[in-house]
Amino acid sequence: MTAVIGYGPVGGEPGEPRIDMKTWIGDWVLPSPVMTASGCSANGKELDAFFDLTRIGAVVTKSVMLAPRSGRATPRMAETPSGMLNSIGLQGPGIESFVENDLPWLRERGVRAVVSIAGGSVEEYGKLAQVLRYCEEISAVEVNISCPNVADRGQVFACDAKLAADVVSNVRRIIPSEIPVIAKLSPDVTDIVGIAYSVVKAGATALSLINTTLGMVIDTETLRPALAGVTGGLSGPAIRPIAVRCVWQVHEALPDIPIIGIGGIGSGLDALQFILAGASAVQVGTMTFNDPSAPQRVHIELARALAERGFGRFTDAIGYAHRPHEEPLSDFVADAWAEDDRAGEGADPARPLSSGAAG
Ligand code: FUM
Repeated sequence: MTAVIGYGPVGGEPGEPRIDMKTWIGDWVLPSPVMTASGCSANGKELDAFFDLTRIGAVVTKSVMLAPRSGRATPRMAETPSGMLNSIGLQGPGIESFVENDLPWLRERGVRAVVSIAGGSVEEYGKLAQVLRYCEEISAVEVNISCPNVADRGQVFACDAKLAADVVSNVRRIIPSEIPVIAKLSPDVTDIVGIAYSVVKAGATALSLINTTLGMVIDTETLRPALAGVTGGLSGPAIRPIAVRCVWQVHEALPDIPIIGIGGIGSGLDALQFILAGASAVQVGTMTFNDPSAPQRVHIELARALAERGFGRFTDAIGYAHRPHEEPLSDFVADAWAEDDRAGEGADPARPLSSGAAG
């Protein structure tokens, strides 16, 4: 464990704690654990005006399919309590245009790019991987097997352990071994751990947990479904507890597999929940509609939250909530609180670890 080395603008924003925020997804080292989430900011350009995209861990691009696609009919979005329902239907330019127009821009900017791919069959994912294997500018591939907005529920591959594994092993076989292959799973299953095992066995380097969960809104004026596609994917703070639960369960079963936590993250403390549950990184999605600079802000707030709790290194906090009840607080955390108390600040309402939690 390392100690907090102070606050200051060196290499960061003013007031940003100088703690080591590096993390790993397989052999890939990221300077920050915060990424954008696929589908909430197209392919990065929209956010470029708001913050330096190279300062966060990575930009995850909108899931791209083989052919251009216009997506589902409108309306495709509906607000829900603490959330958002979308039924976009994987609209996008197709892989050729993406490789020609979007990837070069990300490379020129020096942005770490995680390319999200979606297909209608195991073969289609393979064809996408064939195109991407020659693109040097890619940091990782996220295999989206969990989009709920497809006409045929049989195409939500992440709801079937064997189909999910078939897609992942096909992509893994084609993508060069030094490029992480990340499987994005759905919460709409009885046993997410079983699906996680299956895709890891098939070669997934890491897991993105979770995609949206299937939902529906009825418009009480028109007396019809609010979305033209009838159902949609629910995202935002409403699904955060589901996402934290999925991360917790999968980390408990597969502690060595890097997990990227996704689901209603809008602050550093939201992100911290995912990290303590076992995530090695997080993605910020729906919050960017409200605050386009949210990914950078979450990075800064997370660094501050970790420093306030005595962590000098991001990786020390991964899965920290799983420690046995009888295990006391690590010395560095206890020391940080004691110092706080000595400074006369008394009990901090943000303090996550009570003496009860410490056993
Ligand atoms: O409809 C959509 O394009 C959403 C995709 C996803 O949630 O993976």
